[in-house]
Amino acid sequence: MLNIRGLTAAYGHCQALFGVDLDVGQGEVVGLIGRNGMGRSTVIKCLFGLLPAGQGSIEYGGRSLRGLAPYRIGRLGLSLVPEGRQIFPTLTVEENLVATACAPKAAGGWTLERVYGLFPRLRERRANLGTQLSGGEQQMLALGRALMTNPSLLVLDEATEGLAPVVRAEIWRVLAQLKADGLSMIVVDKNTTALLRLSDRNFILDKGTTVWRGSSAELSARPELVAAYVGV
Ligand SMILES: Nc1ncnc2c1ncn2[C@@H]1O[C@H](COP(=O)(O)OP(=O)(O)O)[C@@H](O)[C@H]1O
Ligand SMILES: [Mg+2]
Repeated sequence: MLNIRGLTAAYGHCQALFGVDLDVGQGEVVGLIGRNGMGRSTVIKCLFGLLPAGQGSIEYGGRSLRGLAPYRIGRLGLSLVPEGRQIFPTLTVEENLVATACAPKAAGGWTLERVYGLFPRLRERRANLGTQLSGGEQQMLALGRALMTNPSLLVLDEATEGLAPVVRAEIWRVLAQLKADGLSMIVVDKNTTALLRLSDRNFILDKGTTVWRGSSAELSARPELVAAYVGV
């Protein structure tokens, strides 16, 4: 489905990625793991056309995404739950959700009702502005908004960051449900234990390079790897 090979990227003269490999199969959940500053968000920015790729290839469904504008990448079925949520603060919950909605392609597409079914809290808050939401509600909204584009690959960058434990648990519950429904995902999260419960395969980034890849079962059996590349 997604195939990234030898990706490099830089912020001006400061190179951040030195050769990243990452691939995601249909219906697969992939964890992108590493310490802060190792390049996870940068890979995501390149994938969504928010930062130009240097060397290497990014292919989705056999087609190169290099050089495509972000909105075109979105139309190909990729959707991002960005770091920091970035909801529209002056729109209501419901306006945030319909702002990104695509015309329903086929039966089974995402609707307001389906998002509210996933997050009943958003239904209760449907008329509230983005600025009036708690952090947890904002995160649910960011996730609901991403789903409204009917993605075939959903990418989540630190979606449980800074949330209360009960809200975090709700986000993980929803991600497990999306996985059960067959949605492909790339997940970046500091909670490696929770991440490995969800993910099928994982890629570890260190200093802008993919240094390890393997199944969640393999990685769970090698705590020394997690300790070395993530810390405890
Ligand atoms: N906007 C930016 N301008 C300059 N350097 C940046 C910028 N964003 C990230 N970097 C640098 O790129 C490297 C990778 O960062 P990032 O991809 O955000 O890491 P991660 O998401 O894994 O924490 C770091 O060295 C970081 O300081
Ligand atoms: Mg990051």
